[in-house]
Amino acid sequence: MFQSLTPLPPDPILGLSVAFKADTNPNKIDLGIGVYKDAQGNTPVMSAVKKAEDIILNSQTTKTYVGPVGAAEYNETVARMVLGETLYDSLGKRRVTVQSPGGTGGLRLAAEFIKKANADATVWVSDPTWANHVPLITSAGLKIEKSPYYDYTSHSVRFEEMLDCLRRVTQGDLVLLHGCCHNPSGADLNQQQWQAVRDVALKQGFTVFIDMAYQGLGDGIDEDVYGVRQLAESLPELIIVSSCSKNFGLYRERTGALTVICDSDASTKAATTLIAAAARANYSMPPDHGAAIVQLIMHDADLRSEWDQELTGMRDRINGLRSLLVERIAAAGIEEDFSFIEREKGMFSFLGVNVEQVPTLINDYSIYLVNSSRINVASVNESNIDYLTSSLAKVLSS
Ligand code: LMR
Repeated sequence: MFQSLTPLPPDPILGLSVAFKADTNPNKIDLGIGVYKDAQGNTPVMSAVKKAEDIILNSQTTKTYVGPVGAAEYNETVARMVLGETLYDSLGKRRVTVQSPGGTGGLRLAAEFIKKANADATVWVSDPTWANHVPLITSAGLKIEKSPYYDYTSHSVRFEEMLDCLRRVTQGDLVLLHGCCHNPSGADLNQQQWQAVRDVALKQGFTVFIDMAYQGLGDGIDEDVYGVRQLAESLPELIIVSSCSKNFGLYRERTGALTVICDSDASTKAATTLIAAAARANYSMPPDHGAAIVQLIMHDADLRSEWDQELTGMRDRINGLRSLLVERIAAAGIEEDFSFIEREKGMFSFLGVNVEQVPTLINDYSIYLVNSSRINVASVNESNIDYLTSSLAKVLSS
């Protein structure tokens, strides 16, 4: 039965880490997967997380099951973080939040829930979008379409084209937007653009589906959810998937959540049962450790303030690296305008090289980046920036 199987190509993002590890070039740079790195190139456990882990280790009294929807306290904590206190209160029972195994688990849960609500639904994703959105959504049986998003020449959002496209999306279909720190481009909607999206969604009646994987890594925890809160305040329905992988550095602990807002308490009650059933059929219940850490940090004043400071440090470092990269690219004699990197937000930007130049950077210079030319800005540091910019100068001029 298995003899006819043929292997799949490596994952476009995860495959890079494997190739990077096998590379013996001492100058190699991994600009691939989206994990935060410090100035030494490490991804340390955050100090607030370490302290919370110690407390949990010493005080936990049971390892019994948490149930398909996860820990109620964690779910409410995440909802407050994403929505803010005012909206959290005003939405009341129109909202449900369910713990998920990471943001990806939350997206899958959302996709299965959507399939139950409308088996014929099409999900419109931005062009480009996170490489895993398409396989994840289609493997749940949903259709996918792309709407214009990033202009590779002007390095800005193709907003008018995007809106024109959304004006043709109708009730029963979904529009998947990145809540902040757009992956892979780093180009986000501004406040007026979010308002315009809200108005189109209200008029057309489609459901907005937010992927919120980088809250706190753009401009700040509250600043980054401006658009999400605008939508949650006005739209009858909204789906939000959030993740604590990046802002708490909990990557491998798989800590995420799916929030669904419905137009009535009764619909939310029904939605909760469908989401719980999807969780039960897939993995039964989510892992607890990461959620317990988040819950503890957010409810302990000292840990919360320590986490806030660490997150601010991560965000400031990324934003500082964006400016440094632009400066050093110019200093390497590259004449093209790279100032867009400084305007963009979060971990990613495109390096602005074409599809033939990406393999050259990988094969000839051991600089690993996604084939779209997406780079993880947080992987840049003082030890590798000159090698990176001089290699880029050579590739661009060849
Ligand atoms: C990324 O885009 O690099 C991250 O979200 C990690 C992943 O799972 O792809």
